Amino acid sequence: MKAWCALAFLCLAYFCHSAQSCPAFCKCYARRTEVVCHEVPLTEYPTEGLPKNTTSLTIQYTNITSISEEHLSATPLLQELHLYSNHLQQLSSNLLRGVPHLHTIDLTDNKLAHLPADVFSHAPLCSLVLKNNQIEKADAEWFPDNSSLTWLDLSGNHLRKIPATFFQKLPHLENLDLSDNRLETFPADSLDLLTKLERLNLQSNKLDTLDASTFQSTRNLTHLFLARNKLSKIPQNLFQELTQVKVLGLDDNQLSHIPPGLLDQLNSLDDESLDLSANPWLCDGKVEYLWRWLQKNKKKVFLPETIVCAKPQSLSARSVMSLTESELNPQS
Ligand SMILES: *[C@@H]1O[C@H](CO)[C@@H](O)[C@H](O)[C@H]1NC(C)=O
Ligand SMILES: *[C@@H]1O[C@H](CO)[C@@H](O)[C@H](O)[C@H]1NC(C)=O
Ligand SMILES: *[C@@H]1O[C@H](CO)[C@@H](O)[C@H](O)[C@H]1NC(C)=O
Ligand SMILES: *[C@@H]1O[C@H](CO)[C@@H](O)[C@H](O)[C@H]1NC(C)=O
Repeated sequence: MKAWCALAFLCLAYFCHSAQSCPAFCKCYARRTEVVCHEVPLTEYPTEGLPKNTTSLTIQYTNITSISEEHLSATPLLQELHLYSNHLQQLSSNLLRGVPHLHTIDLTDNKLAHLPADVFSHAPLCSLVLKNNQIEKADAEWFPDNSSLTWLDLSGNHLRKIPATFFQKLPHLENLDLSDNRLETFPADSLDLLTKLERLNLQSNKLDTLDASTFQSTRNLTHLFLARNKLSKIPQNLFQELTQVKVLGLDDNQLSHIPPGLLDQLNSLDDESLDLSANPWLCDGKVEYLWRWLQKNKKKVFLPETIVCAKPQSLSARSVMSLTESELNPQS
């Protein structure tokens, strides 16, 4: 009897203890100081019972709608916050004031539209993912001066333009993803301070032109994605400084010509890594530069035979590479 009581007491104590040290519906991994609340019926941030020493918190596929500075201050050692696929609409100003070690936030697939000033100030953030939200305006006020961010993903939002001041606060960026937005313009001097940038994704926007000086300071770029825009003209010097570029996507634009010399500095391209397909190439005498470049650099191009003439009618659907010199210059 005594033994039974002791056992019951132990069980109870264990139960109470574990209930206290982990929020309802969540799993706590004490040794790793990690808490995971995955696909559970939460509608509010799980404040009750979060271990104070939590360093990694994951709340995903729940119905929570907001997070505040008070919520996060309960776990001052937090380093990573994964908030994938919730219903978040609101983040409080100075959200990160109580988490001075936080370096990673993932807010993918939420319902964020407006973010307050200083929402990403106060913590030494390296990685911020805001992918697939409803953000219309990118605001420099979100960040402190000289933010430590190296990775910023704003893909899949509703951005129409980015103020030139936005990137002035982010001089340490190495990876910037702005794909799948509605960008119509990209200010010429936007990237002037981003000398460490290595990957830039602008694909699936509505850009019809880029200023010749856009990439003049981003000499360490290795990956540049410009596919699925409306680019019809490219300035001759656009890629002049991009001697480190390994991968370049220009497919699915409105290019009929590229200016002579455009690709000459791209000496680091990997094999099959330049994509020029799905453009309406005009195969008149002015396509000669592209034609000559392709003869020499065919290996660098992804599916080179898919670079085909849209016009003139007589050459329509012919691969540019396959043209003969007399077809390029019919009069001569
Ligand atoms: C979130 O709310 C919706 C509608 O109220 C409900 O159907 C769904 O089960 C909830 N999700 C979770 C993970 O509780
Ligand atoms: C974190 O705190 C919990 C109690 O809240 C404790 O059981 C656990 O051992 C602690 N983990 C570490 C690594 O200190
Ligand atoms: C900016 O931050 C970096 C480290 O993140 C630091 O080394 C540098 O001194 C800072 N620059 C200014 C102007 O504060
Ligand atoms: C560019 O890359 C080189 C080689 O990786 C590196 O040494 C250099 O510091 C980088 N430049 C900047 C401005 O980050």
